[in-house]
Amino acid sequence: MKGLILSGGKGTRLYPLTYTRAKQLIPVANEPVLFRVIRAIRDAGISEIGIVVGDTAPEIMEAVNGGERWGVNITFIHQSAPAGLAHAVKESLGFLGDDRFVMFLGDNVIQGGISPLIRQFADSQWNSQIVLTAVSDPRQYGVAELNADGSIKRLVEKPKEPPSNLALVGIYMFDRHIREAVHAIKPSFRNELEITDAIQWLIDQGYVVNPYIHKGWWIDTGKPGDMLNANDHVLEEVSPRIEGAVDAASQLDSRVTVGKGAVIENSVIRGPAIIGEETVVRDSYIGPFTSIYHHCLIEKSEVEHSIILEHSRVTDVPYRIADSIIGRNATVTRSEVKPKAVKMNLGDYSQVGIL
Ligand code: TTP
Repeated sequence: MKGLILSGGKGTRLYPLTYTRAKQLIPVANEPVLFRVIRAIRDAGISEIGIVVGDTAPEIMEAVNGGERWGVNITFIHQSAPAGLAHAVKESLGFLGDDRFVMFLGDNVIQGGISPLIRQFADSQWNSQIVLTAVSDPRQYGVAELNADGSIKRLVEKPKEPPSNLALVGIYMFDRHIREAVHAIKPSFRNELEITDAIQWLIDQGYVVNPYIHKGWWIDTGKPGDMLNANDHVLEEVSPRIEGAVDAASQLDSRVTVGKGAVIENSVIRGPAIIGEETVVRDSYIGPFTSIYHHCLIEKSEVEHSIILEHSRVTDVPYRIADSIIGRNATVTRSEVKPKAVKMNLGDYSQVGIL
């Protein structure tokens, strides 16, 4: 089997972070979401992986490289336009050939591995397998209606009146018949070739599409709140280790990871939390569910339930920072410059909540 990871798209819902960075490279628990996806596919025994890229191709190609780090072969596939998930498959047919493959959205985070469901598909005669999970508000997802025997009756994209609470998780498995499907379907009202239409086409032609019900958590990291949510879940999975220097005046609980070259001085860190390589935390409090990436400085400040990206500085901030995502090379600091006011230099689409 082959793997296909979709990492094109626009990421408009994650502005401003995705103005300057591919959303698949935003880290949760200090690991880019895309790297986690590559690991999941590799751990399922697949070594030939195609990554569909769009405007952010250079950044993704530089970060992933040839895939040696994971012991896999990566082929980059340039999608001519972000014209839908089925369009991405259509433009990947040369790479896929007639092989069975798993397609994974590069911005989705799922609990545990995907080995059992890949094995199940690889050993079967099914033409496709889709992954479904129960969600509280199905209206924003592709939704499946099942027959009494558990087979799929139909799929509907973002239904106003959902026929069930079973949403399509961003993992799909196909055999060569998907080739006919992506050629047969027409663009949707949003002018995209929808993967749900391609799967519906397979069902309508009598091909076997097996539904796999996923019981753990699954997060489509489309919006900022989803990133924090994914970070919460993944931090709970991390096996803590201390590789940096922690002084005697600091208190760290057992669920804290400190990366190589990091320095923790006179600070309290409550886990689950992760402090990246070469980051300095001094005279500060870091609360649960916080990920601070590499080369940051947190000084005389309090941060909890937040993600702080690389090379950022939070110093002398008089209020606790919570529920926040701070981009790269950002500075948040107390200003002594008169007048006494909140002074900001924010990128487009930034959001600030003031006390
Ligand atoms: P989406 O989140 O559906 O789309 P998007 O990335 O354009 O985001 P937004 O709605 O915020 O503008 O995409 C899911 C995944 O599939 C994501 O990793 C990007 C990728 N993708 C492609 O590779 N090609 C495409 O044509 C589309 C639509 C998405």
